[in-house]
Amino acid sequence: MIIIKRIGVLTSGGDAPGMNAAIRAVVRAGLHFGMEVVGIREGYKGLIEKNIMEMKYRSVSDIMAKGGTILKTARCTEFATPEGVLKAKKSADELGIEGLVVIGGDGSFRGARDLSNAGIPTIGIPGTIDNDIACSDYTIGFDTAMNTALECIDKLKDTCASHNRCSVVEVMGRHAGHIALNVGIASGAEAIVVHERDFNLQTDIVEKINKAIANGKKHFVVIVSELFCDSGKLAAQIEATTGVETRATILGHIQRGGSPTLRDRLMASVMGEKAVELLKDNIGNRVIAYKNGVTVDYDITEALNMKKDLKEEYFSVFKVITY
Ligand code: F6P
Repeated sequence: MIIIKRIGVLTSGGDAPGMNAAIRAVVRAGLHFGMEVVGIREGYKGLIEKNIMEMKYRSVSDIMAKGGTILKTARCTEFATPEGVLKAKKSADELGIEGLVVIGGDGSFRGARDLSNAGIPTIGIPGTIDNDIACSDYTIGFDTAMNTALECIDKLKDTCASHNRCSVVEVMGRHAGHIALNVGIASGAEAIVVHERDFNLQTDIVEKINKAIANGKKHFVVIVSELFCDSGKLAAQIEATTGVETRATILGHIQRGGSPTLRDRLMASVMGEKAVELLKDNIGNRVIAYKNGVTVDYDITEALNMKKDLKEEYFSVFKVITY
């Protein structure tokens, strides 16, 4: 069996809290198994440009609590082309990189598959705040992002309560409503608007707010998933139809920053170590996933073809306890 002696690690796509813990786990596990480890800066772009740093045991000290990624990240359009993949393979060969760990989202995994096919065994680790990687119940960064959003919504509720207002809060997730659904329930919102479910202004928001008013409530929160609609326009519509003064807040990139929660550090540490175990056995073209409470791995193509929906159970619970 071929023994992999030198591996690389990179972060790709949008950053997510916990990526540093994953980098640390990859470096420490690699060194533990007798490999050399290099950190590749700025994702696949850095691989093409051979922008690397040799990683030693102390290179990853004191990074667990830091948000962002010490390796920096990028979305690399060149790497999405066959020529880009060939360039990256050539650079990897010149750098002596025989295996690679990529921490990122679906787009990053497509690159990991292409590199594996080109001859560099590559393992993907799900790292995105959106939790939109179908093969895994959990993605690194999700918990921290939700907690950040929740903290902001709690603050918005203070000012809404003082003014008897409604707050429309737009949370991140690209086209996935995982953050919206979870923080909607956890913040006690009146309505949750996501891409994955049908939406009707009258029944999903106006009637709910009117019912809450009838129950004596004077301030309201509506959570909207990013890219669903113009949050400012939605706020104006709510104000026009309910008579409740309404403001819109887009939480934006603040959800991507901050010190990772225990959950993100733990998941990242376990996934990072598992990724190196696969490379140690010369296995590539896999994604590490968390499924039904267990850490598993899938073929990348298989993983990319999977589908994941929001939890129906959460919608049912929300319906019963919100009025
Ligand atoms: O995928 C993470 C994410 O933060 C999404 O929630 C959001 O749609 C997107 O990245 C924003 O990307 P950018 O950092 O390029 O603005």
